[in-house]
This record gives sequence, structure tokens and C-alpha cells, in this order.
Amino acid sequence: MEFSDVINNRVSTRSFLQKIVSDEDILYILECAQKAPSWMNKQCWRFIVIKKQNIIKEIAKTNIINRWLKQAPVIIVACADPKQSGYNNEIGYYIVDVAIAFEHLILAATNRDLGTCWIGGFDEKKIKEILEIPPRIKIVAMTPVGHSKEKESIGLKTRKKLIRSTKRKSLQEIIHWDKW
Ligand SMILES: Cc1cc2nc3c(=O)[nH]c(=O)nc-3n(C[C@H](O)[C@H](O)[C@H](O)COP(=O)(O)O)c2cc1C
Repeated sequence: MEFSDVINNRVSTRSFLQKIVSDEDILYILECAQKAPSWMNKQCWRFIVIKKQNIIKEIAKTNIINRWLKQAPVIIVACADPKQSGYNNEIGYYIVDVAIAFEHLILAATNRDLGTCWIGGFDEKKIKEILEIPPRIKIVAMTPVGHSKEKESIGLKTRKKLIRSTKRKSLQEIIHWDKW
């Protein structure tokens, strides 16, 4: 896919076909995450790839707004070991490191025609229990990965337009030239 097509095609996907995601695709998107920049190249990120449907269903149950995750064929949870990153200007860089890598992963998934949705609405304590994540590790985000069903459903498209805004601010609103 052309780079601009990857950027323009990436949308949050919340409905999936019951179609297997190949391990080759999963490894490709993780390799793309692996190539992200990080604080002193410490690569504090760790990824949990969940394919077991019983675990996916347990995760979906933990947050009412993200119940739809139950039909995801795969969920990837992006974790960080904060000790393997830095802190400056009141910014914990482990969040930045993982966020960059995870966006690489999301764009790589788009490049393979796989749908994703950045998920921040999760209960960290519950997810850590389910996935047996050690106490020192933080969960930064998660995403479903799967073949999108949304292209097929006009109803879903309309609901998305009504409920979930995808409209962007204008460039004038977000850019300052030379000084603030
Ligand atoms: C930090 C962050 C947290 C998000 N959390 C959720 C979430 O918990 N559930 C959800 O359905 N979408 C979530 N989203 C997706 C946004 O709603 C979505 O990116 C935004 O509406 C723009 O739509 P688009 O991704 O289709 O362009 C999250 C996105 C970000 C960046």
C-alpha cells in the first residue's frame, strides 16, 4: 500500500469477521513495532498476543464500553517496563515509547488490510490479573486485530458517524508557525 493510503485507510475498527489472522501477519506487525524509536533505545515495550477466545471474552467483560471486543479474533496488549525508559519534563517516556511502537503496529496492520482500534478504556488491575502480568509492568494500550466487517455494514457506518466522531480539527486550529 502507498504510505498515504495507509494513513488515510486507518480507522478505528469495532466489528470483525470471524476469519483467522495469520501468524505471518501478526509477526509482521510486531516486527514493525519493534523498529520504533525509544528512549536510549531501551525498548521498554512488551506485547501480549491473545488468540485464545476464552481470554478475549474475559477481557471484553471488564469494560462496559468495550464489550464489542468479544468478537475480535486477536487482541494485542501493549505493556511497558517503566524502569527501562526515562523521565524528563514530567513526562514518563515509557508511555511515549510504547505509543510510538503501537502506532507502528496499527499502521502495519492497516497495510495488511487488518482492522485495529486503539483501546485506552480498560481496567488495568483486572487485565493484569487475567493475563498474569507482573506488578512492575504497566499496560499502556490494547487493540483488537482482525479482518474488518465494517465495510459490509451500512448500519454500522451510520452508527459510527452518529456516535463516534472521526472529524478532525482544521490545520489552522492545530498549527502555530514560528511562535505559539
Ligand atoms: C488514547 C486513546 C484511547 C482510545 N480508547 C478507545 C476505547 O477505549 N474504545 C474505543 O472504542 N475507541 C477508543 N479510541 C479510539 C478513538 O475513539 C478514535 O481513534 C477516534 O474517535 C478517531 O477515530 P478514528 O480512529 O476512526 O480515526 C481511543 C483512541 C486513543 C488514541
